[in-house]
Amino acid sequence: MDYFRRKPLDQILADGSDEAHGLKKTLTAVDLLALGIGAIIGAGIFATLGSAVSGSSGRPAGPGVVVSILLTAVACGFCALCYAEFASLVPISGSAYTYSYATLGELVAWIIGWDLILEYAVGNIAVAISWAAYFKQLLAGFGLEIPAWMATDYRSAVLATQAAAESGVASLSPEAAVAYQAHLHHPVLFGVPVVCNLLAVAITAAITWLLVIGVKESARFNNVIVVLKLATLLFFIGVGIFFTKPAHWHPFFPGGASGVWTGASLIFFAYIGFDAISTAAEECKDPGRDMPRGIIGSLAICTVLYVAAALVLTGMIPWEKLKGTADPLAAALAYVHQDWAAGVLAFGAVVAMTSVLLVFQLGQPRILMAMSRDGLLGPWFGKIHPKYRTPHVGTILTGVFVAFFSAVANIDEIVQLTNIGTLFAFILVAIGILILRKREPDRPRKFRVPFVPLTPILGIGMCLFLMAGLPLLTWWRFVLWLAAGLVIYFLYSRSHSRLAAPVPPAP
Ligand code: ALA
Repeated sequence: MDYFRRKPLDQILADGSDEAHGLKKTLTAVDLLALGIGAIIGAGIFATLGSAVSGSSGRPAGPGVVVSILLTAVACGFCALCYAEFASLVPISGSAYTYSYATLGELVAWIIGWDLILEYAVGNIAVAISWAAYFKQLLAGFGLEIPAWMATDYRSAVLATQAAAESGVASLSPEAAVAYQAHLHHPVLFGVPVVCNLLAVAITAAITWLLVIGVKESARFNNVIVVLKLATLLFFIGVGIFFTKPAHWHPFFPGGASGVWTGASLIFFAYIGFDAISTAAEECKDPGRDMPRGIIGSLAICTVLYVAAALVLTGMIPWEKLKGTADPLAAALAYVHQDWAAGVLAFGAVVAMTSVLLVFQLGQPRILMAMSRDGLLGPWFGKIHPKYRTPHVGTILTGVFVAFFSAVANIDEIVQLTNIGTLFAFILVAIGILILRKREPDRPRKFRVPFVPLTPILGIGMCLFLMAGLPLLTWWRFVLWLAAGLVIYFLYSRSHSRLAAPVPPAP
């Protein structure tokens, strides 16, 4: 069956960029930690935490969000180990798409590649929206107020108007009130109301431009950013702890177990990115030892910080007040009248999220490029700029996609879609490990998941549990996305696949 045709490893190596060959084996566990933390800490903790606590789109987790965080960390830990083995089986740096093409066959690879668009590009829409919210707060600190219509996405304006019609304007959260204002007062261009998140569009355009001309985060730059991210969260915890009131932690579980569950399904976003560590398997000095250390270590560090930040946040401000806030940590500092600290935090958050945007916006076109080289996507995705040597077409298309949706989409809905897609990719990776241990037990692996089949099975179970905590509408969107992907595969990719072409006779 050609759905299961696999791409030979030799061909993968030959197709890879120069970077893929002979990578220097220099990375240590500390480098892996930095790589992980650099990709992990971003909009999840700076924005989604507020939605999980207040139940913006479901039952509230309240202070019980700490349990949601711990549950998610464990789920990610199981899957991360599977990622690391997968990465070490296919000895080039790449993504789950590349690994699965070599091991599980074309159809699964296509599904993973298509699904990764949800993790990378759609995920970045959420980060861009959150970036805009914090940047707006930062500008406000300097006395520069951005008009509501320029900093509100169209979808939130519509949702706020519906909520105002149903329960009255007085019931709106501060953020929804701004969105409602945007709906009331906005310019009209050629008869079309203009309500769009221009700040999010602006940052996406800037990042896209940087990536087209070939700016890359160097290891040193990444280390500086990682220190800044950690410092920003520690700053929040250090200042906020003096303003916590134990009364705010009662009740600890206002939404009961289902609030904790929904919270976990949302806060999962705060962990996305650790899979980036596994892509460096080939560059490790000692992957067998350092991979699990790097992965588990970065998950552990982030978890400790996330739990502390969540406890401080819910101790500072009654959880209900976080409903609909896009910048919950800054909002909490403002709530206790520490506006200076809110400004410092907004600055740190903006920098932290810029680096996440860079990492994901860099990754997406490279996955598209790999798919295009294999013939599964049109050749234009693989085009390299003659001067800058970057996949400029894929980068610009990704930028346009992210910019458009960050202008009009609601952050919570986008986070949910990213989460369901990423969880699905993790499940496929864990299933892949189970299959490969049976089918190719002797294939050399630099890293082996401990306790197989238990670890992958627990990973799959926990990811399914988190997926089940997401709203039905998100499931429908996800099913539609996958269906669209399968239509493209059967109409285009299957027949254009390079593996479909007859192998030329040896000279
Ligand atoms: N984990 C990344 C973030 O929270 C995607 O921004």
